[in-house]
Amino acid sequence: MASARCGPSIREFLTYYVLVLLAAKRRTMPELVEEIDARSAENRAYRRNGALRVGTREMEGAIYSLADRGWVRLRPRGASWDITSAGRRARREIEQTFRGSSDSKQEAASKLIARLKEAPRGSYVLDVGTGEGFLARKLARRGFRVLGIDSGAFDYSKDSIERAREGMGSDNGRLELRRADVTELPCPHRGFDYIVSSQAVHCMKNQRKCLKAIHRLLKPGGRFLSLDFLVGLEGFLAHGFHCFLAMSREEWAQILPAIGFDDIHMYKVRNYLVVDARRPRSGGQTGAIASAAA
Ligand SMILES: C[S@@+](CC[C@H](N)C(=O)[O-])C[C@H]1O[C@@H](n2cnc3c(N)ncnc32)[C@H](O)[C@@H]1O
Repeated sequence: MASARCGPSIREFLTYYVLVLLAAKRRTMPELVEEIDARSAENRAYRRNGALRVGTREMEGAIYSLADRGWVRLRPRGASWDITSAGRRARREIEQTFRGSSDSKQEAASKLIARLKEAPRGSYVLDVGTGEGFLARKLARRGFRVLGIDSGAFDYSKDSIERAREGMGSDNGRLELRRADVTELPCPHRGFDYIVSSQAVHCMKNQRKCLKAIHRLLKPGGRFLSLDFLVGLEGFLAHGFHCFLAMSREEWAQILPAIGFDDIHMYKVRNYLVVDARRPRSGGQTGAIASAAA
C-alpha cells in the first residue's frame, strides 16, 4: 500500500505506536498493519489522500528501527513481534517527554499573534473556521477589524457562530461573525490585510480549494497565518489520529508556493505548527520558503 503521508515525523509516530501495540500483546507484521490501518480508516473516509496510510514497507521500517535499538524482538514461533523491557522503558520516556503541554494552543496562538506585531491597528483580518471565535476575539481585542466566518461543517460546529456571538462581549464594534464557507466568500473591496485560521485547515474537506480561496481573498502583500496540529508523534500524543488530517511541514512547503504564496515561515510550537505565508505584492511568484524552523 503506497503512502502519501509517510514523512520523517510519521515514521517517528509509527515506531511509537508499534511500541504501544506490542506492549498490549504480541503481533505479527500483518496484524500491526491492519490495526493501524483500521484506526486511521475513519480519517481517510473523511479526507481522501489526507490521512495516514501505512503499508508493510512503512511498518517494516518502523519495526527494524525498533529492533536495532533492542526495543522489540521477533519470536520465530508464530513470527510475532514482542516488546522488550528496554522497549517498555523507552515508551514511558517518550510519553513523559511530550505530555504536560496542555496550554500549547494558547502558546501557538501567541506565536501567531506575535507575527502580527508590525500590522497597523485597524488592519482588516479574516478568521477562517472561527468556531466560537478563539482567534477572532483575541484579534478584535488588539484593535484589528475582524470578520470571523464558519461554514458550520460539522454537527459540533453547526451553531458555533451563534455561540461565538453570545460570547462577543465588548469586542462588538470591531468583530463581525458570519456563517459562510471560505470558498464562497466575496472578496472585500481591497481584499483582507491578513487571513488567520486556528485548527481549521485540518477540518477542510478540500484544502487546496480553501487555500486558493484564501489567496484570492488576500490583498497583494497580505499574509495568511495558520495554526494547526503538528503531524507525527508529538501531535499524535496530544491530538490522536486527528493530527493526521493536518498538513505536515512537507505538504505546506509544497502546496503554498504552488498556489502562489511566498515568504513562507513555519514554527513548531509544542504540538502545533504555525505557518505564515504572503501573497506576493505583484504577479511575480518566487515561491520562496524564507525559513523553516525545527
Ligand atoms: C476545529 S474547529 C476550530 C474552531 C476555532 N478556530 C478554534 O480554534 O477553536 C474548525 C472549524 O472550521 C470550520 N470549517 C471547516 N471548513 C470550513 C470552510 N470551508 N469554511 C469555513 N469554515 C470551515 C468548521 O465548521 C469548524 O467550526
